[in-house]
Amino acid sequence: MRGWCSGNELPTLKKMLLWIVLLNAALCVASGNVTRDVCKEQICSCNEIEGDVHIDCEKRSLTTLQQLTGPSSHFYHLLLHGNSLSRLFPNEFANFYNAVSLHLENNGLHDIVPGAFLGLQLVKRLHINNNKIRTFRKSTFLGLDDLEYLQADFNLLRELDPAVFRDINKLEVLILNDNLISALPINGVLEQIPGIAEVLLEDNPWDCNCELASLKEWLENIPRNALIGRVICEAPTRLQGSDLNETTEAELCPSQSGGADTSLVAPPTQDQTSNPAAAKPLVIYVYAKPLPPSHKETNPTFFPLFPPRPPSPHPQLLSPLSPLCYVAAVGTTHTGFTL
Ligand SMILES: *[C@@H]1O[C@H](CO)[C@@H](O)[C@H](O)[C@H]1NC(C)=O
Ligand SMILES: *[C@@H]1O[C@H](CO)[C@@H](O)[C@H](O)[C@H]1NC(C)=O
Repeated sequence: MRGWCSGNELPTLKKMLLWIVLLNAALCVASGNVTRDVCKEQICSCNEIEGDVHIDCEKRSLTTLQQLTGPSSHFYHLLLHGNSLSRLFPNEFANFYNAVSLHLENNGLHDIVPGAFLGLQLVKRLHINNNKIRTFRKSTFLGLDDLEYLQADFNLLRELDPAVFRDINKLEVLILNDNLISALPINGVLEQIPGIAEVLLEDNPWDCNCELASLKEWLENIPRNALIGRVICEAPTRLQGSDLNETTEAELCPSQSGGADTSLVAPPTQDQTSNPAAAKPLVIYVYAKPLPPSHKETNPTFFPLFPPRPPSPHPQLLSPLSPLCYVAAVGTTHTGFTL
């Protein structure tokens, strides 16, 4: 028996199905552009409080904002605490371009796709605390050109891309306490936010090694009282519980238990020991300078000290150089710098 769907009838059926699928898709697109005004349709409560409009969309079980829109006639604070916005996709807030602050606390937020904040040029304060964010990527904050206040405490942050603050270089307040951050580089990272006025770093598992010496120095050079709370070392064991501000550079960058480091310094020759002036101990002068990428930890390279720096007040031996660490020069107190 030859059924209507056998043989060369099949392609026709396939075409029909294809048309149905296309028709469905077309309908989806048409209905997809219908956005609902969160104030007019009373999805959120919109109130003026002391001259500021607050759009309160707290605990509305929202998973996306793509079909919603905010008022275009005035600026507002957008309150989205306690929803289910666990992933933010590019242009998530495109219909809320009049927001001046954004509250996203307690959303189970774990992924901010770069571009999610595009269009939010007016937002000065962003609250993404109490979520599950693990990392700040290079373009996580793209679009937040005027951001001054970033609250990201109580997340699972471990990694910050070195370029993360490039898009938000007007930042004045940075709240990162209660995360899993062990290191925060200065070069290329914190130096991108020169206007910092307040920073919270407490309750992170800080690894107080040589790399953190630059954080210590940065904290000493930002405005007085800008650091709120303490930076307590969790590692290495010998510094566990110490406040970073009370560690010395020698503790952060220790010599390797006497042995390995002496290889950086030639032992005094017979000649030098017989000459009282030359008998003065060899000193390693250190100053902070990022090493070129070619630098290999296992193969320390030394660079001329130009311009010459005054000796550091506490000359010390240096452990094998870590990539972002220090350049050292060897000299004697009477010969000055020699390399
Ligand atoms: C939405 O779709 C309708 C009909 O397809 C169209 O007339 C309208 O311009 C669209 N609106 C937007 C904002 O794209
Ligand atoms: C280190 O910080 C703590 C807490 O802010 C403070 O009490 C202490 O005096 C500081 N120590 C130094 C050496 O600045």
